[in-house]
Amino acid sequence: AATRVYNFTAEWVRANPDGLFERAVIGINGQWPIPRIEAIVGDRLIVNLNNNLGNQSTSIHFHGLFMNGTTHMDGVVGTTQCGVPPGGSFTYNFTVNQAGSYWYHSHLDGQYPDGFRGPLIVQDPESPYTNQYDEELVITLSDWYHDEMPGLIKRFLSVTNPTGAEPVPNAALMNDTQNLQIQVQPGKTYLMRFINMAAFAAQYLWIEGHTFRIVEVDGVWTEEAEADLIYVSAAQRYSVLLTAKNDTSTNFAINGAMDADLFDKFPEGLNPNVTSFLVYDPSAPLPTPSLVDEYNEFDDHLLVPYDREPLLENPDYSFKLDVKMDNLGDGVNYAFMNDITYVRPKVPSLFTVLTTGAEASNPAIYGINTNTFVLEQNQVIEIILNNHDPGKHPFHLHGHNFQCVARGEENSNDYNPENVTLPEIPMKRDTWVVRPNGHIVMRFRADNPGVWLFHCHIEWHVDSGLTVTFVEAPLELQSSLSIPANHYAACNAANAYPKFQ
Ligand code: C2O
Repeated sequence: AATRVYNFTAEWVRANPDGLFERAVIGINGQWPIPRIEAIVGDRLIVNLNNNLGNQSTSIHFHGLFMNGTTHMDGVVGTTQCGVPPGGSFTYNFTVNQAGSYWYHSHLDGQYPDGFRGPLIVQDPESPYTNQYDEELVITLSDWYHDEMPGLIKRFLSVTNPTGAEPVPNAALMNDTQNLQIQVQPGKTYLMRFINMAAFAAQYLWIEGHTFRIVEVDGVWTEEAEADLIYVSAAQRYSVLLTAKNDTSTNFAINGAMDADLFDKFPEGLNPNVTSFLVYDPSAPLPTPSLVDEYNEFDDHLLVPYDREPLLENPDYSFKLDVKMDNLGDGVNYAFMNDITYVRPKVPSLFTVLTTGAEASNPAIYGINTNTFVLEQNQVIEIILNNHDPGKHPFHLHGHNFQCVARGEENSNDYNPENVTLPEIPMKRDTWVVRPNGHIVMRFRADNPGVWLFHCHIEWHVDSGLTVTFVEAPLELQSSLSIPANHYAACNAANAYPKFQ
């Protein structure tokens, strides 16, 4: 295994990815789009982050990596660290034990939609599909806003927006651009990795004249499954095998369509689509994408994980999370789980674990606003999430992936175990979509001591509080973890009370 070092200076640069509007974006080392992080399973990754933004603190979260034994490297401000202040620096240092398609992003104040998000790919020397493709392609999807996040968040969480209507993106992107041309060779097979780094919008994705063979979702190898069209929510990833035709006379459109059902109001003039092209012959014309009137998406819940891990049985700890959006009487719309809207604590929850002795097992010690659940080591955990909101939500768990043992359709209401036969080999991934007024039941084993957030990955809903904290095996953490000095330095600079030595 190798050690891979990335020296990243975060700084503002200018970009115009949709060709409609130039704005300031968060780049790295003067570049935007920001670089891809690459590793091989077993490698150590060292990311030295310098914050040269001048006006904002920052952090990096490595989305989908479990951070086994290194919860303090999870990059979540208020959970595992304080924000790295302007002028400050911070080192992330951990080993990568999972293969697949991931991404990295700032985990502070809705910052990543301003540009601070990029792909992270981990190669698997033991991949079950190694010999089945010739080349790899990485394609990021995202939505794009012309306004910067601090102003958008302020307006979103204000009395002028009592219904909590989420700002609608101005455009959709692939690889941070539009009309991308991807040259392919006849007869070759490609592993295409699709990564949705959006703040808000899921994309329906399909390639005209071609069928996908899904082989990975969210870092989980799957048994091969054919799909004409996939639905990729914010934060989800899909790897598909795609074999190029032998006929090179025609080029084909790669279509991404933002899921407009997510938007309270469809803005006039918005193009919700992004088109790229599979180019067989650069001298042949590029096609006009054809319109579809129905999206028949592949149901990810039907996938089978390649390792065929059976259902985690007999949960030791099962609890409900009821999702709703409401007003707190101040005229602002917030998001709630079990009537609590998450507020980020000044002292990271992990520091509370490490400094409170036996009390660390008491959820109250973390403050009511962190919505903390304490999990015991190796328990089988079951989350029954009932969505009392007419929106879809992509729920993400840090530190784990989780099995989906039941998922209701739109308007299926609360979970009722009597109506359900549980699957023998459920699919698992790290981001699952719950349907409007539907439910989803998820299980995982608490085998990774740490402090892990569970939240909707729509950035607006993070900002309005749709987050809970899982403190997993706190006493175990107290005896196994020691935190490097620059964690304390970041908190001291942020004036998080008390001062840490
Ligand atoms: Cu992509 Cu809380 O993470």
